Amino acid sequence: RRLARAHDIEDLREMARRRTPRSVFDYVDGGAETESTRRRNASAFDDVEFLPQVLRDVSRVDPGTTILGRPVSMPFVFAPTGFTRMVQHEGEAAVARVAEREGVPYALSTMGTISPEDLAAAAPGADRWFQLYVWRDRAASRRLLERAAAAGFTTLVVTVDVAVPGARLRDLRSGMTIPPTLTLRTLAGIARRPRWWIDVVTHEPLRFAALEEAGGGFAEVVDGVMDPGVDFGDLEWMREHWSGDIVVKGVLHPRDARTVVDCGVQAVAVSNHGGRQLDRAASTLAALPEVRAAVGTDAEVYLDGGVRSGTDLAAALAHGADAVLVGRPYLYGLMAGGEQGVSRVHDLYRQGFLRALALLGVTSVGELGPHLLRCPPAHGP
Ligand code: FNR
Repeated sequence: RRLARAHDIEDLREMARRRTPRSVFDYVDGGAETESTRRRNASAFDDVEFLPQVLRDVSRVDPGTTILGRPVSMPFVFAPTGFTRMVQHEGEAAVARVAEREGVPYALSTMGTISPEDLAAAAPGADRWFQLYVWRDRAASRRLLERAAAAGFTTLVVTVDVAVPGARLRDLRSGMTIPPTLTLRTLAGIARRPRWWIDVVTHEPLRFAALEEAGGGFAEVVDGVMDPGVDFGDLEWMREHWSGDIVVKGVLHPRDARTVVDCGVQAVAVSNHGGRQLDRAASTLAALPEVRAAVGTDAEVYLDGGVRSGTDLAAALAHGADAVLVGRPYLYGLMAGGEQGVSRVHDLYRQGFLRALALLGVTSVGELGPHLLRCPPAHGP
């Protein structure tokens, strides 16, 4: 009932903020440096001007399509996020169960807090993707890939925008560390949110498959998953060690997108990591059309960053995306109400997307395109 009072993602964000220690909320909500890129991702959607079509029969609207050849109920993917069980104990499993029920893919992060095997057991019917950071230790990366493949993950997401960690000033200021350490400041924050503390400490401890494979302490693992030496040659390595589909996530430059596709991957995700890496990076919606033009129909193109409603989803598709990934919104849902909160997030996107399609005068995903925009991008899809 409480969740039914959340009418958009901002309502859920507000509920999440009230229930979670400030440092944990800020870890999710924050971006890098001045956070201009994080804000710009969202404001780019504010600037979209649709030219809707009227007097079309929209009594039957179909939000379904395919992603990488597999049917989905809408072009929406739960993006990989690290340390998900730290924000709420149900974590990754809850999100994957919603994905399974609703027929959309779920991507598990390298820094996930559940093993790939346990995630598969929690949501055996979900289209499960596995996100990899290419580690300095290639043997450990390879063992993780083998485990993901054996656990039935269909798709590898290679995230390429983390050559070095971004500067998340909110975390530096709040003393947020991974895993959280108790200092006077963090203790004070937790004391104000005892429900979160009880939720997280009374459940199973966080389990890190990455940590198990790499060995060593946590700090070394976090450091080791980011290898500044990774280059295009490593995509070849991926292709040798992964027989399923590959998505390269974190591309903004159209030339890079073309090179990545020429390396033989199936999809490119236009992403700036939700504004958590390079501050002042372009918004993903602004970068999307040129990437689409550079890639053409040789690969699928996804977008993430700032997609906060079904209407934004429709706008991303009109600008040339085949699908979107969504990160923070489902974490707000988790913090606001566990699995039911994630369901609410899904439902808001789905209802909003159906409504946007109908109001745009289209009945299927394939009809979305730049002709529905007042200012179609110069390098249109
Ligand atoms: C992320 N993101 C991310 N991406 C990735 O490839 N591996 C990861 O481990 C993480 N971890 C992570 C943690 C948290 C708390 C957030 C908010 C994000 C980035 C994520 O996949 C996605 O690119 C952005 O979240 C998309 O932007 P929005 O939807 O959050 O605006």
